[in-house]
Amino acid sequence: MTRTIEVVINGVPYRHEVEPRLLLVHYLRDVVGLTGTHIGCETGLCGACTVLLNGAAVKSCTLFAVQADGATITTIEGLAGDGRLHPIQEGFWQKHGLQCGYCTPGMILAAYQLLSRTLDPSEEEIRRGIEGNLCRCTGYQHIIEAIRYAAEKMRAARGG
Ligand code: FES
Ligand code: FES
Repeated sequence: MTRTIEVVINGVPYRHEVEPRLLLVHYLRDVVGLTGTHIGCETGLCGACTVLLNGAAVKSCTLFAVQADGATITTIEGLAGDGRLHPIQEGFWQKHGLQCGYCTPGMILAAYQLLSRTLDPSEEEIRRGIEGNLCRCTGYQHIIEAIRYAAEKMRAARGG
């Protein structure tokens, strides 16, 4: 038995029939075709599958697609606008915040949630903001610098 869900993803409305057991991460990747959301552990530990659900960072392997019915979702594909990188993406680029890139979409969306709460986070707040996201490559310091870079840039754009 399938159920109909309606969601808005990166500003685009979608309506699909889905199996009730379909995980949100599989829906995004396999049904909608947005493969920028990665799958790591599928058990809620690594954060590779992080997306924004109604503005809050969630691990999309921990939700069924039917639980997102009626929600607004942002994936990594929805962050850049007008052909320009989002400041967080730019920060990861400028500060070498990624190596293999597997964790990066989830890291960036976790950082997005953090910076939507404060544009002047301390190092500890940044570390706490990404504590649910694992990276096996970078040692985290470059990621923290990338988020700091983005915060500065976003503060400047806001006017200080
Ligand atoms: S794939 Fe979802 S937390 Fe690891
Ligand atoms: S850049 Fe490789 S896992 Fe983070």
